[in-house]
Amino acid sequence: MLDRRAFLEKSALLSALGFLPRAISAEEYERDVARTSAPTGFRGQPCVVSSANGINGVKLAYDRIAGGADTLDAIIAGVNLVELDPNNQSVGLGGLPNEDGVVQLDASCMHGPSRRAGAVGCLEDIATPSLVAKAVMDYTDHVMLVGEGAKRFALAVGFKPQNLLTEQSRKDWLRWKARLSDRDHWFEPESLEALKFTHGTINMNAVNAGGDLSSVTTTSGDSYKLPGRLGDSPIHGAGQYTDNSVGSAGSTGQGELNIKTCGAFLAVELLRRGVAPEQAALTVLERALAVSEKRRLDERGRPRYDLQFYVLTKDGRCAGATMYEGASFAVCDERGPRLEKCAYLFKASEHPR
Ligand code: GLY
Repeated sequence: MLDRRAFLEKSALLSALGFLPRAISAEEYERDVARTSAPTGFRGQPCVVSSANGINGVKLAYDRIAGGADTLDAIIAGVNLVELDPNNQSVGLGGLPNEDGVVQLDASCMHGPSRRAGAVGCLEDIATPSLVAKAVMDYTDHVMLVGEGAKRFALAVGFKPQNLLTEQSRKDWLRWKARLSDRDHWFEPESLEALKFTHGTINMNAVNAGGDLSSVTTTSGDSYKLPGRLGDSPIHGAGQYTDNSVGSAGSTGQGELNIKTCGAFLAVELLRRGVAPEQAALTVLERALAVSEKRRLDERGRPRYDLQFYVLTKDGRCAGATMYEGASFAVCDERGPRLEKCAYLFKASEHPR
């Protein structure tokens, strides 16, 4: 049964954002909802797409989907590989900490067929925030929990606390701290090798043969961030988004800018209008550039940051795009797992390093 109020709100919102050349009719919306709920007869190509650091995860997720697993369960298992890898310093265990030396993790997920969503932000001491985000979705009628409340919830539903700050990340944080100023009480570090910074993250999206979609994004966020900072990863519509009638999208890279762009939502809305995945991802990057503050751009308007988008359609087409040439994305379909080149807005030689 069509919820008239929801339909009117949706139409008004999309029209206001300029995505619709005209208001969608009640019949169109009803058809859309019906297809989302029951993709009977739909046969597409199963496909899993992620940021390049998910190259092992896309294979694991694809195999699980081929074995009948739910798309969200499969991709969360895929990103768990990275969350639990102590050598990956941008996600989960071993992630670079905030300016106080505390690892704070963000994650969000959306499950297309049931239209449910979950998220956690600034979660401490739990290595798999993607699973805690899903637990918020499964066990509560909330969508997002943050900070101390998120941790208390995680412990209550059975997650085990652990120290997420590895020796490597502690040393990197201390070197960053010692290099901050020549007017504090810390000596300069012995090694002047380049400091490590990361906006790294993993986003993963999947579709099965029946056209059911899911998305998840998980991160330790901006290295040495202010305590309490949330990036785009836990924000539905920014760090990831799924509409089961259309597709999924997600991002890695400069989170503040993506929050302002609502990038994952925009990518999916472009798919809805028939835009191809690669063009949708590039258009979102152009929008991010258009909303960039001047301080994030060089004198020729080129970004001083990078941002990537990964896009997947209901019928299994996918693409990745990045600001600067050189990035790849991971994909697994019937041809197996592989890295493919991202489309880009600027040549690598144009980067204002
Ligand atoms: N995109 C990850 C972050 O900015 O936190």
